Amino acid sequence: MFFTDAHLLTCLAVGVLVAVAYVLRDLIVLLATQYLSPLRALRSPPSPSFLFGNLREMYQQENTGLLFDWEDAYGHTYAYRGFLGGYRLITTDLTAIAHILAHPERFQKPDFVRENLAAMGAGSESVLTTEGNVHARQAPAFTAAHIRMLHPIFWDKAAELLERWKHLANDRRELCPSIDVLPWLSKATLDVIGLAGFGYQFNALAGENDELADAYHLIFSTARKLALRTILETWIPVVAQIQEQRPQSEAMNWARAHLTRIGLKLIEERKSMMAAEMGKDGPYQNIPEYLRQTRLQDLLSVLVQSNMASFTSQRMTTPEVLCQISTFLIAGYETTASALTWCLYALAHNPIAQHRLRAALWTIPRDSPTLDEDVAKLEQLDWVVREALRLHAPVTWTMRVAMEVDNVPVNDPFTDRWGAVRNSVRVNQGDIITVPIQAINKSKKIWGEDAQSFRPDRWRNPPESIKNGLWSNMLTFLGGSRGCIGYRFALAE
Ligand code: HEM
Repeated sequence: MFFTDAHLLTCLAVGVLVAVAYVLRDLIVLLATQYLSPLRALRSPPSPSFLFGNLREMYQQENTGLLFDWEDAYGHTYAYRGFLGGYRLITTDLTAIAHILAHPERFQKPDFVRENLAAMGAGSESVLTTEGNVHARQAPAFTAAHIRMLHPIFWDKAAELLERWKHLANDRRELCPSIDVLPWLSKATLDVIGLAGFGYQFNALAGENDELADAYHLIFSTARKLALRTILETWIPVVAQIQEQRPQSEAMNWARAHLTRIGLKLIEERKSMMAAEMGKDGPYQNIPEYLRQTRLQDLLSVLVQSNMASFTSQRMTTPEVLCQISTFLIAGYETTASALTWCLYALAHNPIAQHRLRAALWTIPRDSPTLDEDVAKLEQLDWVVREALRLHAPVTWTMRVAMEVDNVPVNDPFTDRWGAVRNSVRVNQGDIITVPIQAINKSKKIWGEDAQSFRPDRWRNPPESIKNGLWSNMLTFLGGSRGCIGYRFALAE
């Protein structure tokens, strides 16, 4: 038997028809879910596009100006429109937010968020992307003792950064040389997470090129470009079946293979270090004592110990350990670099706060301050850090999806689009919820009329209304069991 052109054309036509039928099926399910959503009853801003709803303006907005305008017009609890006109809940009501964060099994990360994080390099088995029992087994804690042990790394890298900036400033020979601090702070925080997390020397501050950093950057930047495809794959699952043959995918595959190879090497090295260690005359006696101690207790050691656990229920698989390594790179350095940059920006614009902080820092009696005896006692420093993290939250919002029907209680009753006053928002399974971190951090209702100003002094008497709120009365690190597990690390850094 042989195939004629007519046979081939028929096969092709059948293939196309089947694909179209699958796309239509996914679309009908999506539109029906959106049509039946109780969120349609909420007030909402006009939607400028059927395809993207309000998404474009939300992603284009500078800071939270748009959300403040919407809050003025529609109250604390309203809806905006997402892909293909779907209604999404957005609320700055603290009771509603507390309810959502307190029930992580009922409100999980939406598939498209997890897919995006996985594509950015975290992988599908990362603490960022898993849920339920798997997640609980994966989340290693940064205890206060861990942070104390890591402090010399933070200190060394800060001193190295300072030296580089001094050289740059001297080289310029300008009266007031300006330095673009973000790339420098990114290098410093990358070096820190490498050393403190995995005993890995990126040496980014020293200007060295590193293959792990290169592979990671490639994945991160390519994943951002592929975002539209990721959205389509999530909402129309059949799109995920279509194989890509673009150069971008090849580069991604190369980078992923590279990350896996280096990650596996790190894991194997750590396993043999842990096995050989304990005697100081082992093969690792040539590294400084504090680094040796750090390595034996850093994140990678915690992960490797879990990989070697005798109970299977507690054991983390090697692919899971690999995913956590990329996760900590993704979550652990750009966020902190961005926070530090905003903090310097705020101080540059507030000479009085800068002067007070400098005066407080001069009171430290030694060149190498300790976390507990010196740094933790500096009230001004604590206030400046809190205020910068409140006003310039590096993660501006996050999302959750309702896994079941629920009534989300609110503190402030709101009016729906039919004029009825309500005390709770009903959500269906599949409804998307946006937690507007920065809008809550800068809410006038909570922080008063000067909520948008940088005023470290406000921390002398933080507002009563949120004394029992989430971490330090703000949402910068979110809250509940899916809050940031690196917040102590970031604060110390
Ligand atoms: C100023 C710096 C940081 C900020 C503002 C920040 C903020 C956040 C936020 C808002 C989340 C929750 C995201 C969501 O659920 O949608 C989160 C999660 C997470 N953060 Fe951070 N983070 C920072 C630094 C770090 C550092 C230094 C590390 C690691 C060393 C880290 C590790 C993580 C991890 C692993 C998660 C996922 C937790 C989970 O889903 O259970 N973060 N972070």
